[in-house]
Amino acid sequence: MKIAVLGTGMVGRTIAGALAGLGHDVVIGTRDPQATLARTEPDMMGAAPFAQWHAANPGISLAPFADAAAGVELIVNATNGAGSLAALTAAGTENVAGKVIMDISNPLDFSQGMPPSLNPVNTDSLGEQIQRTFPEARVVKTLNTMNASVMVDPARVAGGDHTVFVSGNDADAKAAVTDLLKGFGHRDVIDLGDITSARGAEMLMPIWLRIWGALGTGAFNFKIAR
Ligand SMILES: NC(=O)c1ccc[n+]([C@@H]2O[C@H](COP(=O)([O-])OP(=O)(O)OC[C@H]3O[C@@H](n4cnc5c(N)ncnc54)[C@H](OP(=O)(O)O)[C@@H]3O)[C@@H](O)[C@H]2O)c1
Repeated sequence: MKIAVLGTGMVGRTIAGALAGLGHDVVIGTRDPQATLARTEPDMMGAAPFAQWHAANPGISLAPFADAAAGVELIVNATNGAGSLAALTAAGTENVAGKVIMDISNPLDFSQGMPPSLNPVNTDSLGEQIQRTFPEARVVKTLNTMNASVMVDPARVAGGDHTVFVSGNDADAKAAVTDLLKGFGHRDVIDLGDITSARGAEMLMPIWLRIWGALGTGAFNFKIAR
């Protein structure tokens, strides 16, 4: 499948690499490819400059958001939550219309310091904001409840015996995303319902961050025992 991964951070790189490894034709979207490749400092999360990763992954091209999103079958939103609407707007309404958007973003708000809070929260979610802004897109919130490396290699935690959620209004879009999740090795995919259920998935972030702090590692995940 032709897939655009919007986002050059740890999540975008990890998802793009895994999708390419599964045989998909992957392009990464960014605001300004030249500026992205010119960075020499690690990002906010300590990830090495993008150019280093790109040199090691020459089969994955880099393009402005709109060029990346044009002509693909599926779009992954792996952009910073505060910039996701801007990134998808830059991708172009015409380029996202009708397409599945696999939305991994979290609406983390660092304006009050650490730990971040969520904005929106409770009565709205970033997944819903994206769906409202792009009504012709088919948004599926997923994978936002775990660390990037666990997203594409669930077996690294408890042999893969843990849970991933999907939220979205379109059953076919959720089925397409579930196929990708299973390709990564996820076995327990819970369909939470329509896109309003993304509120629940995003609101797992405060407890995820506290567990991360308590364990000192992101190599864990939620398992829904039942
Ligand atoms: N890190 C994790 O393990 C993890 C786990 C679960 C969910 N998430 C979520 O996944 C998303 C990506 O996280 P990340 O850590 O990989 O990277 P990130 O640093 O949160 O996001 C980097 C990406 O966001 C884009 N971006 C930032 N501000 C923007 C703006 N104003 N307009 C347009 N684009 C903008 C950047 O564009 P440029 O390429 O142009 O710089 C870059 O591609 C986030 O929403 C995060 O909350 C992360």
